[in-house]
Amino acid sequence: MVKALRLLSLVLISVVMILGGAGDADAKKKKIPKKPKFVGAVKCNGSCHDPYYQAWKDSPHGHTYTLLKPGERVEAKKRVKLDPEKDYTTNPLCLRCHTTGYGQKGGFQPAGTTNKKGKDISSPIDPKEPNLEQVGCEMCHSVAGGGQFRVVMKNTKGDFKKSDTEKYGQRWDYSNVCTRCHTHRNTPFQPTVHDKYKFNFEERKAKVHQIEKYFTEDNQDQKLEKKEDRAKEEGQTQKTPLRIEDFEIVEGKIKFKEDTLPYKYDKKKKDGVFFYKK
Ligand code: HEC
Ligand code: HEC
Ligand code: HEC
Repeated sequence: MVKALRLLSLVLISVVMILGGAGDADAKKKKIPKKPKFVGAVKCNGSCHDPYYQAWKDSPHGHTYTLLKPGERVEAKKRVKLDPEKDYTTNPLCLRCHTTGYGQKGGFQPAGTTNKKGKDISSPIDPKEPNLEQVGCEMCHSVAGGGQFRVVMKNTKGDFKKSDTEKYGQRWDYSNVCTRCHTHRNTPFQPTVHDKYKFNFEERKAKVHQIEKYFTEDNQDQKLEKKEDRAKEEGQTQKTPLRIEDFEIVEGKIKFKEDTLPYKYDKKKKDGVFFYKK
């Protein structure tokens, strides 16, 4: 009997806490995580950016991992002296530009990756629901992961300024961001190899998000009302584009050159800091 009463009072207390909490909008707002971490494209699907996710999934950026498999794009590989019969899906150089966040917190982990205890921690690969294994949202929309600005987007229900998200590491210098991969000194597919690798930003940008046909009756509420207003605003990262990270592969591990990183966590300030192009 005493046990039952105690249980009942516990239940009552929880109900009061939940109801009380719901009335307080500020208390419900999510806290912004300090250190950035990749979360994957799937997080953007399901309630906020379904048309963007669906369109991306069908687009070339949603299939970049596949290109690393044997037998894919044989001619293109031969042209740059890559072995078309080789499996490149665990090659650190290729993974940097064909997956999301490779070698960084929360980012893609290739097959065979284990933690200190020997447990398999490799990222799942699902052709039906691509996530970290392709060039996802976070490779273009944020410097070092989506965890932070995702909270800003949620807390404001999409009604934010570019400057509000720049505070938390989101960049808006799109034309610059493409060169983390396209025409980067480490890609084998240089414009000097073939004309099709030349990079015209405006032409290519138009192909990235072909979202129109992915809007249905059910996801009309995901149309971004404030997008046009934001397009008029010029973010700090557009005025002064960020540095593009350079990297090397040393003994099978990716090493980012410290003085080329566009965004870093500053221990003293306990916050992220942007680094602009000189
Ligand atoms: C610095 C970034 C970068 C690295 C490193 C990189 N790629 Fe790519 N890769 C790209 C980009 C960007 C494209 C698209 C080029 C375009 O279409 O203009 C591409 C395209 C490709 C294609 C398609 C080419 C075509 O014409 O069909 C294949 C295949 C490919 N990469 C395989 C690889 C393999 C294998 C590796 C590792 C040995 C690798 N890539 C390393 C950025 C990179
Ligand atoms: C290859 C780079 C790239 C990838 C990958 C990418 N985007 Fe984008 N995204 C862009 C560019 C460029 C724009 C700006 C388009 C324009 O202005 O016409 C944009 C615009 C957007 C916008 C509108 C932003 C605003 O002003 O409010 C949203 C939302 C968005 N992307 C969501 C996503 C989601 C979700 C994903 C992943 C499923 C994704 N993007 C993947 C490049 C990318
Ligand atoms: C993390 C690396 C990476 C970044 C960043 C990136 N791309 Fe790509 N992109 C690729 C790879 C790899 C391919 C090759 C896909 C294929 O050949 O199937 C590609 C292919 C494309 C294609 C399809 C080929 C075509 O022209 O039809 C377009 C368009 C494109 N990128 C535009 C952009 C734009 C615009 C940006 C910047 C806003 C950008 N990309 C940023 C890696 C990247």
